[in-house]
Formats: sequence, structure tokens, C-alpha cells
Amino acid sequence: MGGENGKGTREVLPEHVAVIMDGNGRWAKKHGLPRNLGHKKGAEVFTKSVEWFADRGVKYLTVYAFSTENWKRPKEEVDGIMSLLKEYLDKAKDNKDKNIRTLFIGDKSALDKSLSKKMSEIEEKTVNCSRITVLIAINYGGRNEIVEAVRKIAEEMKNGDIRAEEVTEEYLSSKLYTARIPDPDVIVRPSGERRISNFLLWQAAYSEFVYMDRLWPDFSEKDVDYILDEYAKRNRRFGAI
Ligand code: FPP
Repeated sequence: MGGENGKGTREVLPEHVAVIMDGNGRWAKKHGLPRNLGHKKGAEVFTKSVEWFADRGVKYLTVYAFSTENWKRPKEEVDGIMSLLKEYLDKAKDNKDKNIRTLFIGDKSALDKSLSKKMSEIEEKTVNCSRITVLIAINYGGRNEIVEAVRKIAEEMKNGDIRAEEVTEEYLSSKLYTARIPDPDVIVRPSGERRISNFLLWQAAYSEFVYMDRLWPDFSEKDVDYILDEYAKRNRRFGAI
């Protein structure tokens, strides 16, 4: 069990870690910087954290980059986050060489066409990468995801493709953005907040929650070890089955 460079020696390891990258704005304020520089630092930490989690053998990492509610922020901030995403997408061409499968979850239809085209290209390019799968949630909302899944099923039912009694939990799961991805074992929220904020609502049914006071731009490799140790502690069975 574990990663490729000796950092993954844990016996109990989460397969899937999901992170709400929170606290960028407060970090910027603390340093007397504009909010968008907080997001910039947050994006840099995200890129590093993929390596930290992959080195330890985590196979799926999902991050919340932009929610369906984030459009309500000032235009300047929304534009700033979108240009960071664009920058990331330009660099993410290297993800194939780094063996990082890269997927995007959320409603792509509301995004700039050039952005969604780049996303699809990266998804296709990295489809066979196996070191870690990264899911980046953009224009994502958990309730919206469930509504979209229900609509697809209702449409199938209208066409006579499926009967009501065939709609199971597994079937609904297969209609979510995360179809074929295992549910997150751990959901991490830094910055002292303790809310789910419409993130992976369906998928979080059995997830462990780890909260940290650290602001996301200050997140470090040590915090990755803290999360993995915390998960292992909670999953120790003390001799019971
Ligand atoms: C929450 O912090 C963070 C966001 C709404 C944006 C997260 C975006 C990034 C880290 C950059 C883009 C990502 C990628 C994948 C390149 P907040 O602004 O709500 O912080 P606050 O609560 O301190 O104000």
C-alpha cells in the first residue's frame, strides 16, 4: 500500500480525498493583498498538493474550485478565478507526462466555450493516466448535480427506457458527474469553517470529515500527513471487525 517514493507506508489509506479549498480571501487580507492573489496562491498550493497526495498513494483527489454560488462574487474576482483556471489548463497539458488523469465536474455549459473545450481536451489526453485521478469541481453544486441526474432519469422513463423500480442508488450514482468514481473517504475543509457548502452532497453519505484551522494557501505537505493519520486513526478497529 502507498506511494512510489516511500512516503506512503500507511496500512489504512483513503482512496479518495476531497478538499474544499477555503480561506484564500482571508489569507490575502492577512497579507494586505488583493483577494485574487489569495486565489493565485491557492491555485499554486493545489498543484503541489496533487503531488503530495499522489506520493502517498491516494488515488483520487477532488477539489472545489468554483461553486454554482460563486457567480455572485464581484465580477473582478470571478474573472480572476476564471483566468487562473485558464492558466492551469494551459499548464495541465503536462499532466499526461506526470501520469495525472484530470477530470472536471460541474455544469460546463455556463462556462466560456474556450475554457470548456480545453477541459475536454485535457480529459481526453489524460484518460489513461494512472498515478492519481484529479477531479476539479468548476461551476459545481451538489443539489444541481442531483437535479441534473433526476432529469436524465425522468427523460429515460418518458422514453420507456427504464421503469421506476429499476431506479436504485447505484443507478442514480451512475448519472452524477462522478459516475464510476468511488465516493470520497475523507472530506477536508480548512480555514476553520465546518460546513459542506453544497459539495458532493450525495457522495458524502459515509465520508469522514476533517476540519483544519489553516487557510488553504498555507496548506502544506505536513497537513497531508495530518489528514491521512487522522483518517487511519478513525478507521482503526481496535480488534473488532
Ligand atoms: C474559497 O475561498 C475559494 C474559492 C471560491 C476559489 C478557489 C479557487 C482556487 C484555489 C483557484 C483556482 C483553482 C484551480 C484548480 C486552478 P474564499 O475566497 O471563500 O476565502 P475566504 O472565505 O477567506 O474569503
